[in-house]
Amino acid sequence: MTKPFIQISGLSKRFPGANGGEPLTVFESANFSIEKGEFVCIIGHSGCGKSTIMNILAGLDTPTDGGVIMGGKEISGPSLDRGVVFQNYSLLPWLSALKNVTFGVRARHPDWSRAQVLEHSQKYLEMVGLTGGAEHRKPAQLSGGMRQRVSIARAFAIRPELLLLDEPFGALDALTRGTIQDELTRIWSGSEQTVFMITHDVDEAILLADRILLMTNGPFARVAESVVIDIPRPRERAEIIHQPAYYKIRNHLVEFLARRSKQLSGVRDHGGEPPVTVRPGADDPDEQERRPASRPQLVSVAS
Ligand SMILES: Nc1ncnc2c1ncn2[C@@H]1O[C@H](COP(=O)(O)OP(=O)(O)OP(=O)(O)O)[C@@H](O)[C@H]1O
Ligand SMILES: [Mg+2]
Repeated sequence: MTKPFIQISGLSKRFPGANGGEPLTVFESANFSIEKGEFVCIIGHSGCGKSTIMNILAGLDTPTDGGVIMGGKEISGPSLDRGVVFQNYSLLPWLSALKNVTFGVRARHPDWSRAQVLEHSQKYLEMVGLTGGAEHRKPAQLSGGMRQRVSIARAFAIRPELLLLDEPFGALDALTRGTIQDELTRIWSGSEQTVFMITHDVDEAILLADRILLMTNGPFARVAESVVIDIPRPRERAEIIHQPAYYKIRNHLVEFLARRSKQLSGVRDHGGEPPVTVRPGADDPDEQERRPASRPQLVSVAS
């Protein structure tokens, strides 16, 4: 059996308690994998540890236990193979929007001429609608949505093997959001890129993802389910809602967020079981849920 592109094994993160208080275990013994070229979204309530997982995948934070193997190598620091759109945009404040993008492109392609770097960077800024002078402004002179678009252009322009997106469209108006979602799908489907994206928007996740990982509430959060989105591509925003599978999947996600994310929370000693694979859109009920072969006894620490 071939190894997955990304293997997350026994991943735990504990933060020391504030003022000598109890440490906070955000998640424990997380085990899941991502295949090459997959588009995976992760959904869970605020504070469950989504950004922490992403920071570990980016190589910007280290796990307390466990590790991540990508393409056969352990992730041990940041790399241009992994492009990140941060939740808070994280642009270099002293550089213009354009230079924030060229900076990464130059590092990625040290053999390119200045003109090549500029042309490539401008193409991505145009893609996110930042033209007409806005590209020469510094982050402090841009709106939140514009900053987010620079951050998207910067990550996409280096064409990394793995795109890590932390609520990348949160600050965008509906129209811009739709346009950039379409661009993301176009870029991803025409490449070998793998995407791991955090979102709070279930409709966005169904539109974009091959698979949606569902996290329980923290502390001791875990990736409880892997929901397969078997709606054929290409998916059109206006069309997808007429697919019979769409509402089955949507209801499943909403029900998880409204009820089960809390009911399943606070579980320790889950034996590092991988998430249950669920296909809410499948016609055959037998196919809808596939549990791991052995399911260890769960011990709840919720009071
Ligand atoms: N550097 C840190 N020190 C201490 N605690 C931290 C640190 N970073 C994150 N946490 C805590 O870890 C938990 C998970 O945080 P994280 O940012 O990963 O959540 P999230 O799922 O991304 O939430 P949101 O949806 O609000 O962005 C939170 O309780 C947070 O307070
Ligand atoms: Mg977050």
